[in-house]
Amino acid sequence: MLETKNLTIRFGGHVAVNAVNCAFQPGTLTAIVGPNGAGKTTYFNLISGQLKASEGQVFLKGQELSRLSPSARTRAGLGRAFQLTNLFPNLSVLENVRLAVQATQSGPHLRGLNLWSIWSDHRALTQRAHDILASVAMLEKQQHAVASLPHGDQRKLEVALLMALDPDVYMFDEPTAGMSHDEAPVILNLIRALKEDRRKTILLVEHKMDVVRELADRIIVLHNGALVADGQPAEVIASPVVQEAYLGVSPKDPPSGAPTGAASPGPEKLQGRVAP
Ligand SMILES: Nc1ncnc2c1ncn2[C@@H]1O[C@H](COP(=O)(O)OP(=O)(O)O)[C@@H](O)[C@H]1O
Ligand SMILES: [Mg+2]
Repeated sequence: MLETKNLTIRFGGHVAVNAVNCAFQPGTLTAIVGPNGAGKTTYFNLISGQLKASEGQVFLKGQELSRLSPSARTRAGLGRAFQLTNLFPNLSVLENVRLAVQATQSGPHLRGLNLWSIWSDHRALTQRAHDILASVAMLEKQQHAVASLPHGDQRKLEVALLMALDPDVYMFDEPTAGMSHDEAPVILNLIRALKEDRRKTILLVEHKMDVVRELADRIIVLHNGALVADGQPAEVIASPVVQEAYLGVSPKDPPSGAPTGAASPGPEKLQGRVAP
């Protein structure tokens, strides 16, 4: 479905993403983990086209995307969460989602001035937008202006807009960062539901190891821009590279009970930890 070959970017002398070769299959959720500054967001930016690779290629369904703009990559089926700055802050939540749904469909303009058809299209778009807002538990905020939303709702709206595009590949970069305890499960449940759709390919950058353990079919580990581990969640989590980088224990230390709590350090704690 999605593949990166030798994907590399340098900022001055610094190699932020270093020759990453990886293929992602439909119907699988791959978690991308690694210390802060490892290159995870930059890897996403290279895939989505926000950044131009110094070397290497991105393929989606066999089509090379490397020279395409971010919007052309979106049309090709890549779904990267919107930056809310790309939205219409003074329009309502519902209007923004409806516009995103509309962007994926051939609009009524193709049918000439058939008012009945315009009206029924409008109703169908509104219904779809309602369904999406319900799935992120934001129906009651549908009339709020986007600019007035608190941070957690803005993040949920980003996910709603991504759903509206209905891409083949979903890329989530720390989707629950900054969300409250009741908001995060809404998004995680949604990602879990998307995973059931066997056509979708999901890439998830996530620091919380308990979430990764539960949702991921596969984990890849980035460190200093390079792919240093790739495999089944249990084996990758047990690997020395992850034990060292995430749990701060040497591989020889005995594991201390349930790892979930200890396995969820903030990004700061991971900074500068060097994996073997
Ligand atoms: N536009 C940029 N210009 C210069 N350096 C950058 C830029 N974007 C990212 N970097 C650097 O690339 C490295 C990887 O960053 P990032 O991908 O954000 O890491 P992660 O998402 O894993 O925390 C960092 O050292 C960061 O400072
Ligand atoms: Mg990041």
